[in-house]
Amino acid sequence: MPVRGRFITLEGGEGAGKSTQIRLLAEALRERGIEVLTTREPGGSPGAEAIRDLLVNGEPGRWQPLTEAMLVNAARHEHLTRTVLPSLSAGTWVVCDRFADSTLAYQGYGLGVHRDALVALHRLAVAETMPDLTLILDIDPEAGIARTASRRGGEDRYERMGTEFHRRLRQGFLDIAAGEPDRCAVIDAAQPVETVQAAILAEVGRRLGGVP
Ligand code: TMP
Repeated sequence: MPVRGRFITLEGGEGAGKSTQIRLLAEALRERGIEVLTTREPGGSPGAEAIRDLLVNGEPGRWQPLTEAMLVNAARHEHLTRTVLPSLSAGTWVVCDRFADSTLAYQGYGLGVHRDALVALHRLAVAETMPDLTLILDIDPEAGIARTASRRGGEDRYERMGTEFHRRLRQGFLDIAAGEPDRCAVIDAAQPVETVQAAILAEVGRRLGGVP
């Protein structure tokens, strides 16, 4: 039986640079001989990608907040059972763009879904699986949104939710990190790409055994 792979998630607001950092982290791990799968939420399996379309496109108010929380958890259950868990069982490391912390931040802090409802949905969709390490890329929301404005066409439903919404979810991520310091590391994402990358590699090396 291969050893279970490690599960690393990157979290943060819009325009924090997660995609670039995920690519760089995966490259660095592969150079060290580690098998890596990169994936994303919402999405990462065919059904979950179909649900993603419902979430990231259209008018900001198209869903009731609780409906939205159910949709992200439905997508997560598909992704977890069909993509993430089989890979981890095969010994592959999984580096995932967003996971459950995004739901607490966006649907909880951002949209006001009650924490008890989110906990109940999380139990149904995820059960026990949590990341071994979560890297929270922290950036001022206005700076982050300005970064995304130049590169995006479509998929901008959350970016249009307003500055106060984005401030609340930033605070959400910081609260999550403060509450679970063993799992979470906050990285200042306003720094240059190489500096952020070095900080991420340092956290991975320090917190997860076996990374030279
Ligand atoms: P992305 O822009 O990082 O690819 O993520 C897609 C959007 O989905 C992002 O704006 C945040 C949102 N989202 C939630 O609102 N709740 C969640 O649980 C997840 C995973 C993402």
